[in-house]
Amino acid sequence: MISINHISRIYENGASKTYALRDINFEIEPNKVTIILGPSGSGKSTTLNILGGMDRPTSGEVFYNQRLISNDSDSALTAYRRKIVGFVFQFYNLVSNLTVRENIAIAAKLNGNRLLQVDELIKKVGLEHRQNNFPDQLSGGEMQRVAIARALAKEPALLLCDEPTGALDSQTSQKIFQLLKSARNKKTAVVIVTHDAEIAPIGDRIVHIKDGKVSKIINNPHPLEVSEVNWS
Ligand SMILES: Nc1ncnc2c1ncn2[C@@H]1O[C@H](COP(=O)(O)OP(=O)(O)OP(=O)(O)O)[C@@H](O)[C@H]1O
Ligand SMILES: [Mg+2]
Repeated sequence: MISINHISRIYENGASKTYALRDINFEIEPNKVTIILGPSGSGKSTTLNILGGMDRPTSGEVFYNQRLISNDSDSALTAYRRKIVGFVFQFYNLVSNLTVRENIAIAAKLNGNRLLQVDELIKKVGLEHRQNNFPDQLSGGEMQRVAIARALAKEPALLLCDEPTGALDSQTSQKIFQLLKSARNKKTAVVIVTHDAEIAPIGDRIVHIKDGKVSKIINNPHPLEVSEVNWS
């Protein structure tokens, strides 16, 4: 589905250069959870932003279904982000003056989806009783569930999650990971960025990133259930 070939990303600030990614290669497939694992500063978010069409590589190529997207025009990349990608950020990014329901509904509408689907999604993330509340009336876990429902409302082919439980306790994190894992299907690839090695074995594929390089890729034919992870 997605293939990234020899991607490098260099940030230039005046005379100083930061080599955020150096010659990265890996593939993302539908019906799989891909975990991107690495320490702080290793290039995880940079990778995710390039996958999501929010940033461009300095060199190298990104293919989506065999189509080269890394040289796309801004408007083509906007269309890619809008149609193909659902993003779940570490700190939710909800619209604060819209209710739970409205936050989800605008995403469904942007994608031309039936509003009926919004009811199904609200149910799926277990927020029926909170759907008319505003984001600042919710707990962190509830806000993240709204963000996930909003991303799913687009029926994205690519669900990208950057430290989706970074701000949550372990019990809530388990629920969020269960939800994200269940989002993968024949059409949808799920990519989760984390620095937590304990969580990685829930993935079908684990891409280890270190100092802007892929240090190893593990294909995991028997992923752990979320409940089997050591949530210390
Ligand atoms: N806009 C930018 N300008 C300059 N340097 C940047 C920029 N964004 C990221 N970097 C640098 O690129 C490197 C990789 O950053 P990135 O955000 O991808 O790391 P990360 O693995 O997501 O880290 P974390 O776990 O802390 O979120 C870091 O050294 C970072 O300081
Ligand atoms: Mg990051």
